[in-house]
Amino acid sequence: MGEPLKVGIVGAGKISGAYLDALATADSLRLTTVADLDRARAEDLAERAAGEVAVAGSAAELVERDDVDAVLNLTVPAVHTTVTLAALAAGKHVYSEKPLGTTREEADAILAAARAGGLRVGCAPDTVLGTGTQTARKALDDGLIGRPVAATAFMTTAGHERWHPDPEFYYRPGGGPLLDMGPYYLSALVHLLGPVARVTGAASRPRAEREIGSGPRAGERFPVEVDTHVTGVLEHRGGALTTLVMSFDIHAARLPRIEVYGTERSLSVPDPNGFGGSPALSDGTEWNVLPDAAGHPEGKRGIGLADMAESLAEGRPHLASAELASHVLDTMLTLLDSADQGVSLPVTRTTERPPAVGTF
Ligand SMILES: NC(=O)c1ccc[n+]([C@@H]2O[C@H](COP(=O)([O-])OP(=O)(O)OC[C@H]3O[C@@H](n4cnc5c(N)ncnc54)[C@H](O)[C@@H]3O)[C@@H](O)[C@H]2O)c1
Repeated sequence: MGEPLKVGIVGAGKISGAYLDALATADSLRLTTVADLDRARAEDLAERAAGEVAVAGSAAELVERDDVDAVLNLTVPAVHTTVTLAALAAGKHVYSEKPLGTTREEADAILAAARAGGLRVGCAPDTVLGTGTQTARKALDDGLIGRPVAATAFMTTAGHERWHPDPEFYYRPGGGPLLDMGPYYLSALVHLLGPVARVTGAASRPRAEREIGSGPRAGERFPVEVDTHVTGVLEHRGGALTTLVMSFDIHAARLPRIEVYGTERSLSVPDPNGFGGSPALSDGTEWNVLPDAAGHPEGKRGIGLADMAESLAEGRPHLASAELASHVLDTMLTLLDSADQGVSLPVTRTTERPPAVGTF
């Protein structure tokens, strides 16, 4: 392996600390610089990081620095595209937190700029590269459930404002349960069952306001600008039908995360918002846990970025691709359009099923 990819982080908020371990331990990565609108946050993250890490005055300054080859975009969804396009314009690769952007046109512009510049764009989630989703995928590919015919996917919570100190972005365009948590579930479902061809949705917004539940602003109320209960059906290109519920309006539930139903057996898939977990298989009598059989052995945020750095050196496509993220974004936006219009709609930004991750 040659020189590590020099990484600059833009956005030193809540999730940024979760990337420090991978940045400190992956041979393919070296964190050099951090920037945030709030300089104190950037300084704090730089101090917590391993080695010498500089603080840049702004995202615009960071993307121009010679000690940055790739920008790790950890800003809020509404500014993902602005930061990503600025980095690409400065000739830097990008790995972005999800979602890739908030509109199809933003995603198209990112893919076009990356192609034009000969640059890589990767996008979270990388959890689905872990052993949980990938062992489940191997079980499907090995035919253990027969032919997959259907799946369910459930993400239920009463809302992130209960724990996040600045939760407004979850309730603005680019947020909501589907755009926030959907990328984990839909990326996993595309790994498991292939791309989505058509969707039918229904959605609601039971509350006009929410209240911050923790941190210095606890008790402050803010408006809800997006639907917070989203449900629908995804028709995968291969014919399987996924029934989905993504909700910020459910206080308690005993639903599974993802299950896939085949002509012979059923497969229980672990939480796609985690790297590990144990898939289990049942023919209707008992559930048998499957041992880890595939996936990235190191379960931590940043393995998708490390894979992107290694793929650059090896001249192969990276796994957590912007093409997959664009398909996932289009699927989510089309589901919301479908809910709005009361009709089934085709998903137009398509992709191939991503490659499986290392079996062992
Ligand atoms: N918090 C989580 O548990 C979590 C988990 C997984 C993914 N994510 C994703 O990570 C991203 C960030 O989430 P978060 O919870 O860390 O949000 P956050 O609000 O805590 O942090 C975002 C940071 O970005 C900074 N920022 C915004 N615009 C900027 C700009 N133009 N230039 C420089 N800095 C800018 C803000 O000042 C803030 O410090 C989101 O896309 C979110 O979906 C969050």
